[in-house]
Amino acid sequence: MKPWGGRFRQAPDPTAERFTASLAVDRRLWPHDLIASEAWARALGRAGVLSAAECAEILRGLGEVRQELEAGAFPFRPELEDIHTNIERRLQEKVGAVAGKLHTGRSRNDQIAVDERLYLKDAVVRIRRGLAEVQSALIDRAAEMLDAPMPGYTHLQRAQPVLLAHHLLAYVCMLARDRERLEACRARADVLPLGSGALAGTAFPIDREALARDLGFREVSTNSLDAVSDRDFLIEFLAAAAVIGMHGSRLAADLTLWATAEFGFVEFSDAFATGSSIMPQKKNPDAAELIRGKSGRLCGNLVALLTTMKGLPLAYNSDMQEDKAPFFDSVDTLEAMVGVLPPLLRSLAFDTRRMREAAAAGFSTATDLADYLVRKGLPFRQAHEIVGQIVRHALDAGKGLEELALDDLRRFSALFEKDAFDAVSLEASLRAHAVTGGTAPAAVREALVSARRLAAE
Ligand code: ARG
Repeated sequence: MKPWGGRFRQAPDPTAERFTASLAVDRRLWPHDLIASEAWARALGRAGVLSAAECAEILRGLGEVRQELEAGAFPFRPELEDIHTNIERRLQEKVGAVAGKLHTGRSRNDQIAVDERLYLKDAVVRIRRGLAEVQSALIDRAAEMLDAPMPGYTHLQRAQPVLLAHHLLAYVCMLARDRERLEACRARADVLPLGSGALAGTAFPIDREALARDLGFREVSTNSLDAVSDRDFLIEFLAAAAVIGMHGSRLAADLTLWATAEFGFVEFSDAFATGSSIMPQKKNPDAAELIRGKSGRLCGNLVALLTTMKGLPLAYNSDMQEDKAPFFDSVDTLEAMVGVLPPLLRSLAFDTRRMREAAAAGFSTATDLADYLVRKGLPFRQAHEIVGQIVRHALDAGKGLEELALDDLRRFSALFEKDAFDAVSLEASLRAHAVTGGTAPAAVREALVSARRLAAE
């Protein structure tokens, strides 16, 4: 029997019943559905809709249902469509007809909205904690190799030397913004929709403020139509999740590139790599590749829900039932990602000698040589032109900058003196970039201190 049986003459077609059922996806909402139902029963009690005895009886029954769910002994029935109906039917089996009073003034429309908000608030706390763990792993690795230089890249061409720690801390900054974004999601989801009924609000004197306090919501929704048809909080979460995925993907892209024989900057531990079924020599950075790969579904989930929502007239529409698969998938994907990253990062073996060699090669300090001329008074554009000619000359001669003689340099500008060679050393280049946010060892030391503070917040 359906909860709406009264006006129907025909039983549902089994294909339609299977097609519209959402239990397989929404059953994980049971803890939140129970919490919300218990609070709703208390609110009905306070409003005088339920007598004290009825309220107690319903709460007792819900307690039994909870025990079954916790024990994994709950008889899930897909033909009852969703988790809400499953729980209500089970309650009826426990306490009889009084169970039918629980849904007074409530609709599955405000019920699902409150369940999802409760679920989101919990998930955000877990994911933010996971992100902090990733930050800590990055920070620890940075601290461990504080003075190791590497080539910094633009256009994936060697650009200027940076510290490996500086590169790693860039991701800590990205993840700090991600944590802020998630906190903003949580705050915006912290509004109680329950009491909005199907769409018009409830017709019973429910104290929604008290209900909000009971369920730990900061405030109550102020428009019932909006409250039951709003999925902005999910879309914002999916957007934040897509950005986190993109960040994880970029980190994974760096690491997989660095792990190639061509770069040779890092080696994955065997524990985070796989082999090939045909090529015996292979060691593939699978976990990192899949962090990169799974970012695609995080992006897709956002687009999926936006697309589902964009054409819907107010208020609730069944289309909205499709919100949960992308939502839960993004939660699961993010949790898996932030779970694997800390141990993966901690197990990486960096080849700092090779990184240093690469940092020194490829004219990476040419900009420092131009800066040298600027300090002697030359306008930067002229200095750039002169050093460009010197690089051209050195390339033709098959030499690096540091292998040129002072006389070679002086053919291009009389401003060069012996100390020009100091300016093109790796250490001097790094030291020179001493602004806040720069890659100078002193600046990175300071950044490390604030990064630790950030991660601990
Ligand atoms: N399973 C539904 C969902 O996930 C719950 C709300 C259903 N409301 C309705 N009138 N069919 O959105």
